[in-house]
Amino acid sequence: MADMMWAGRFSKKIDDTVNAFNSSIAFDGRMYRHDIQGSIAHATMLGDCGIIPKEDSLQIIDGLKEILADIDSGKLELDPSAEDIHMFIEAELTKRLGDVGKRLHTSRSRNDQVAVDIRLYLRDEIQEIYTLVKKLAVTLVEMAENHKETIMPGYTHLQRAQPVTFAHHLMAYVFMFLRDLDRLNDVSKRMNYCPLGSGALAGTTYRTNRKQTAELLGFTAPMPNSLDGVSDRDFCVELNCALSLIMTHLSRFSEEIIMWCSWEFKFIELDDAFATGSSIMPQKKNPDITELIRGKTGRVNGDLVTLLSMLKGLPLAYNKDMQEDKEAIFDAVDNVKLCVKTFIPMISTMKVLKENMRNAAARGFINATDCADYLVKKGMPFRDAYKITGTLVAQCIEKNLTLETLPIEDYKAMTELFDNDVYEAINLETCVRERKSEGAPSPESVTEQISIARKALEI
Ligand code: ARG
Repeated sequence: MADMMWAGRFSKKIDDTVNAFNSSIAFDGRMYRHDIQGSIAHATMLGDCGIIPKEDSLQIIDGLKEILADIDSGKLELDPSAEDIHMFIEAELTKRLGDVGKRLHTSRSRNDQVAVDIRLYLRDEIQEIYTLVKKLAVTLVEMAENHKETIMPGYTHLQRAQPVTFAHHLMAYVFMFLRDLDRLNDVSKRMNYCPLGSGALAGTTYRTNRKQTAELLGFTAPMPNSLDGVSDRDFCVELNCALSLIMTHLSRFSEEIIMWCSWEFKFIELDDAFATGSSIMPQKKNPDITELIRGKTGRVNGDLVTLLSMLKGLPLAYNKDMQEDKEAIFDAVDNVKLCVKTFIPMISTMKVLKENMRNAAARGFINATDCADYLVKKGMPFRDAYKITGTLVAQCIEKNLTLETLPIEDYKAMTELFDNDVYEAINLETCVRERKSEGAPSPESVTEQISIARKALEI
């Protein structure tokens, strides 16, 4: 192993075990592009401000671009024994340029360097996740268009409750994912301030131009306080929060899909390409994807707890604990991408078994509220109507009937307000069609919801 850059103060080489323990290149190596991007901006500024000779700055920039091309092409491999990606690239630059390379780190510390790198890296990742979640929302809107009349039971406490449609159900998720997109935008906006120039913690005595580096790197402005610049990781927490919510929404949806493809429900059937079999039971078709998503949600939530716990006791400014931020937030980012990417084709290829949804809706008295509302519309106070309907449901259960098949005499025995038109009022199609309030499941209301979502998604 080569001498450490900081070897001057030390009389012994670092112990191998300590180096392996200390090193972060195994996981921060993925930021090489962003590290080079940050260094190019820094070198440009150093040259423009006359802090280093302009020719050196230009040579450094060329050198960095070559290193980037060599890593991209595989010609240059990351050295696993390097302390981190920042040290590796700087050492490589010096290997190639000699003394000129040694000027790059003027007026900079790894503390502001790493803070800028993670922001640049996550900015790209957020963009990718945004595109994926948007694609998911678009997919669901398109599915909803085809299921405005597909009646299914809506549940509370997992008990059949009131009739909805499959489109209405899908649209509920669309609005959750729309809020997730908003949250990603919010995080991006707040984290888009540049820590570069904060130095180790206390800025610098060089006459730097922080506005220039911020601008070159596409940040809104430099971070106003250097201690905050190197100490802050709240953007990782915030992003992880947004990611945990995406996973929470996906996980609830996954749980429903798991139930829906069980024999007990049979509301959907997954495409063969998106299900798995059993090693022993020949009949099995398992929803592994959705179970993995449900499982990985715990993992992404764990990443959030890791970040919060890592930060809560740290005095300002940089502490090595902060190196732990990367594995957590990278894991969250990787898993969200993986899950959304897999979920989209799985959901868009699944078969919706409308008949079974409709049959399930026909049992469970999900039109009982409508029966009570029928009496209310004829002048009865809701509480009395509720009580009468409850009694009728109990009679149906006893006689193994439904509200649709209960004879009119039984209705009339409860109150003369009942007439033959009750059957039309409790017909499931009517129940759905008449639920026209804003946000409700009627095809009309769902059409309105779809158009709100389309506007938000610009489709
Ligand atoms: N690998 C370190 C990290 O990820 C880079 C910053 C090191 N700074 C320091 N003062 N040791 O946090």
